[in-house]
Amino acid sequence: MFGTRQTILSVLLAAVVAAQDAITANGGNFTLTGDDVSYLFHVDAANGDLISDHFGAPVTDFIPPAFILGWGWHDNQANDRREFPDIGRSDIRLPAIHIEHSDGDTVSAFLYKSHEIIPGKPSIPGFPATYGNDTDVTTLQVQLYDNVSDVSAVLSYSIFPKYNAIARSFKITNNGTGDIVIERAASFSFDFPNAEYDVIEPHGDWSHEMNTVRRKVDYGETGFRSTEGYSGHNHNPFYMLASSSTTESSGEAWGFNLVWTGSFEAAIEKASNGYVRALLGLNSLHTSIKVAPGESFQAPEAVAVYSSNGLGGVSRSYHDLYRNHLSRHQATMETRPILLNSWEGLSFDINDTALVDLAGQSADIGIELFVMDDGWFGLEYPRNNDSLGLGDWTPNPEKFPDGLGPYIADVTKIDVVNASTNASTGSQIKFGLWMEPEMVNLNSTLYNEHPDWVLHAGKHARTLTRSQLVLNVGLPEVQNFIIDSVSKILDSGAVSYVKWDNNRGMHELARPSDSYQYILGLYHVIDTLTTKYPNVLWEGCASGGGRFDAGLLHYWPQHWTSDNTDAADRLQIQLGTSLIYPPSAMGCHISKSPNGMTQRDTSFTYRGHVAMMCGSFGLELNPHELSEDEVAALPAIMDQAHRVNPLVIHGSFYRLAGPQESNWPAVQFVSQDGSQSAVFAFQQQYTTKPGAPPLRLQGLDPKARYWNDLDNGTYSGATYANAGINARFERGIYLSKLIWLEKR
Ligand code: DGJ
Repeated sequence: MFGTRQTILSVLLAAVVAAQDAITANGGNFTLTGDDVSYLFHVDAANGDLISDHFGAPVTDFIPPAFILGWGWHDNQANDRREFPDIGRSDIRLPAIHIEHSDGDTVSAFLYKSHEIIPGKPSIPGFPATYGNDTDVTTLQVQLYDNVSDVSAVLSYSIFPKYNAIARSFKITNNGTGDIVIERAASFSFDFPNAEYDVIEPHGDWSHEMNTVRRKVDYGETGFRSTEGYSGHNHNPFYMLASSSTTESSGEAWGFNLVWTGSFEAAIEKASNGYVRALLGLNSLHTSIKVAPGESFQAPEAVAVYSSNGLGGVSRSYHDLYRNHLSRHQATMETRPILLNSWEGLSFDINDTALVDLAGQSADIGIELFVMDDGWFGLEYPRNNDSLGLGDWTPNPEKFPDGLGPYIADVTKIDVVNASTNASTGSQIKFGLWMEPEMVNLNSTLYNEHPDWVLHAGKHARTLTRSQLVLNVGLPEVQNFIIDSVSKILDSGAVSYVKWDNNRGMHELARPSDSYQYILGLYHVIDTLTTKYPNVLWEGCASGGGRFDAGLLHYWPQHWTSDNTDAADRLQIQLGTSLIYPPSAMGCHISKSPNGMTQRDTSFTYRGHVAMMCGSFGLELNPHELSEDEVAALPAIMDQAHRVNPLVIHGSFYRLAGPQESNWPAVQFVSQDGSQSAVFAFQQQYTTKPGAPPLRLQGLDPKARYWNDLDNGTYSGATYANAGINARFERGIYLSKLIWLEKR
């Protein structure tokens, strides 16, 4: 409660100065310090508002704000850099928080009340979030109070100094006597000073996810959103801001990512005074969340990262942070089995004998995990095409007369053979399967029995997409149904892997907030199942990369990157995805050539190199249909995939050249200890001239010497970085080389 300036000052002066170096509070001046970042804000002693000061390269002092003339219509807060912008008190930019109070007014005044610095990071119950112990992370919680409306906010900042990353979230509590409604909640908001920025954002659609576009942040709003109920294919809850001169490897850049699988909204607003407000949070079209007296609303976490080493620096911070402090699955830091998925080879045309056969052929070429995709279930409505059986998770008796148990047992007794030596590896092939638990077909027993379990809005028609409807996972009975159905299948045999698919967006939400409740219900389901089956390798999928987001990566270690398996297209998709998510989390497969979607013909080696740049590498074809050339190329690809996988899982990733800008895209992985590196170099089209530019490598110790298997030379890290290495492509299209380097 603030009556006078005197009261505010005395509260601030009483604040404890924290012992931790990562966060200090000096009166009302808060400093968060990372290895290469400072984040500063303070309490305005005149009114108790929080004011942003700095987010960027290290600084040691608070400086007076810019002078902005208060003439014209916009004065007071319109010219402040605000840390938690609310609405209605002269700040006319987009707010981070917008509440309709119980009396119908929408003005909020969140003023500083107190703060606390906590070693480590408290979890956010029910939400996916980053985590770490006292040596990894420190948390600052600032309590704010709106005296007029009796609503409080706790604004939480956790800094991971090693990654130059700050996770922010907030919780609103209704202390009044009537309902309030949260209309807008941006988990991260920061007001940057007047400067020139670009925004770099992923965009796309099904089969061409994560293209990137870079555009200037100009006056007014620049933004994008998902209103699909999920993070979706069209955008991703992520963007970077960068100074206009920033490149892939130099200059200042900031990343913002929402740890959330639902609809979201990103907005960057440049005001007339030049200040740039960066916001990321829930989509306000899918919010309107009612909070009853005594209850709270929790905003999902957003993670911001700063780097002075360009876009690549931001990406590598996210990769390391997410592998070590977001994804909690035990397989995250483990090499992954090479898998074969039945989908592109067999589609719905599957049964136990055909699949045991396919598993045998797969094991003979070194496949370690056999995955049965769509088509295996349905009693009354056998899943013979995509309009039948979704929701009826019982093996189809015609395809599996003895059920799943004996069939899985037959598969998992097959020995895996090393493709190069033709000798048994001594291990048996593992088994995995596909499910789409959040969905239902009209043609299903489940829908006949529970038509009210789907998302629907009164008498409005229920819009079908891919002949299916979305179960309302916000309902406890639906959550229990999914947990039971999946558990029953996992208990029916040795299932080592699940591909959890989701093939449409949400429509007909009865209330906008149903989308928020759904996602929390989904997290409950996934949390329960991953805790119950910790040894299962879970792979997310949503018609490809439709839910490749940090929310699901908290529970599952990998995600299918795209339904487009054309290797040339995949280069763009995978490099775009790597802007934020680690390659170790991507699922990528070699499919047949010409590609079923694009009809492009590429060599097995080119397809193999593109796919093995991902943590989960595999094949998605019928081995029976491989040509002689492909059979000949296969053993080397399997060997290389095994060799490279530890670097993909643990190493640092560098985008040397992207397919959007160069005919010679290339990427590089460097092992954690810097002793090994793998470079993937590609030539897309043939050109008589010019030839491929030298590949200037990154991440090597400039003074150390490294041997490479391309020209058998040994050069210093400085030579590789500054002169580069020539991949020496000859004539041809869609060529690739894997160059291996070792410290000598
Ligand atoms: C969409 C997925 O992305 C594909 O990989 C495949 O699993 C199909 N669904 C099966 O219906």
